[in-house]
Amino acid sequence: MRTCVGIVGEQGVESVVLERQSRDYVEKRVRAGLLEHGTVALLERHGLAERLRARGQVHRGVELRFDGARHRIAYTELCAGRHMMVYAQQDLVADLIRLWIERGGAIAFEVEEVALRDLDGERPEIRYSRGGREERLGCDWVAGCDGYHGVSRGSIPSGVLRVYDHRLPFAWVGVLAQVAPSTEEIIYAQHERGFAGHMLRSGTVSRFYLQTEPDDPIESWPDARIWQELQLRLAVRDGWKLREGPVLEKNVTEMRSFVVEPMQFGRLFLAGDAAHIVPPTGAKGLNLAVADARLLAEALIRRVHARDSRGLDAYSADCLRRVWRVQEFSSWMSWLLHRIPDATPDAELRRRLQRAQLEYLVTSAAASTGFAENYVGLEKV
Ligand code: PHB
Repeated sequence: MRTCVGIVGEQGVESVVLERQSRDYVEKRVRAGLLEHGTVALLERHGLAERLRARGQVHRGVELRFDGARHRIAYTELCAGRHMMVYAQQDLVADLIRLWIERGGAIAFEVEEVALRDLDGERPEIRYSRGGREERLGCDWVAGCDGYHGVSRGSIPSGVLRVYDHRLPFAWVGVLAQVAPSTEEIIYAQHERGFAGHMLRSGTVSRFYLQTEPDDPIESWPDARIWQELQLRLAVRDGWKLREGPVLEKNVTEMRSFVVEPMQFGRLFLAGDAAHIVPPTGAKGLNLAVADARLLAEALIRRVHARDSRGLDAYSADCLRRVWRVQEFSSWMSWLLHRIPDATPDAELRRRLQRAQLEYLVTSAAASTGFAENYVGLEKV
């Protein structure tokens, strides 16, 4: 979400949400659709999961494919019954907006020229314009939840943040297709032609990903090529068939690991993609943003009601422990499943190591459990 929250509504803490895009845009923008156990539990505790429970699908395992064979990792069995849910991110965004408004929350869409002032003072101010009118919002704290391209991170004076930024040598062609899924569980396929993923949305819409090179234009992926590559990369020897259907949407996503430290400057607290981006493998982006938001909300509530700032003081360090754990997992999973490009140093050696890792993962209970606990989401980091 391209959102800036001027916090001064939950639990008696008054707050205003400012969003650069229209409501329609944020409710339709296609992203991943896999929620960790802890994300769902948090939404449930706050009474935000009714539609998710009604429309989302409970998942208990994933399939890994390589060498024409399939291997199931039953993460729910391996992780004390913890399951995941398939539910499109934009549907969750729509639920949260609707419930926020129903509960009396203030939210403004299509705000422009957002500028943050006096972040290191006692009373920061957010200036913005809406429908041509200039507005000023005084607040006690600002939650910068405005994504990688938002204004929050850029409002922090230079020299304050330490930036870690790494582009992985892969990209994904993301495809949304009008076709019933050909699988009951998410499939990750490692193949010499490159990674392929069969993800899920509903009974009539499926999501697919194909590895390509960074900067490859989407024009080089006509629909026929997409289906041909999916057929080749997802193929197994047991007669499984991939159903095809009309492509609704397609685009190329780069893959990077990005983190800024600390996730705070004065009274501005960064959350989600404003502070970090993980490679998409494993679908952790939204889950990580929710974990940040939870810590920030709890810390602000304690500060406002009990005048206790310990949560706010520890916010950045507490978030960053999870951020780095998830960065490591998403990066590891990306290197596990993608074709190592020829230009990578020691490419052949790394391919052999990758193969050893895959075989270990699907044959060792200890290795599968390590994967599973990261995949369903660690409770305590
Ligand atoms: C998705 O639902 O788009 C998705 C699921 C799992 C992943 C990545 C993306 O690992």
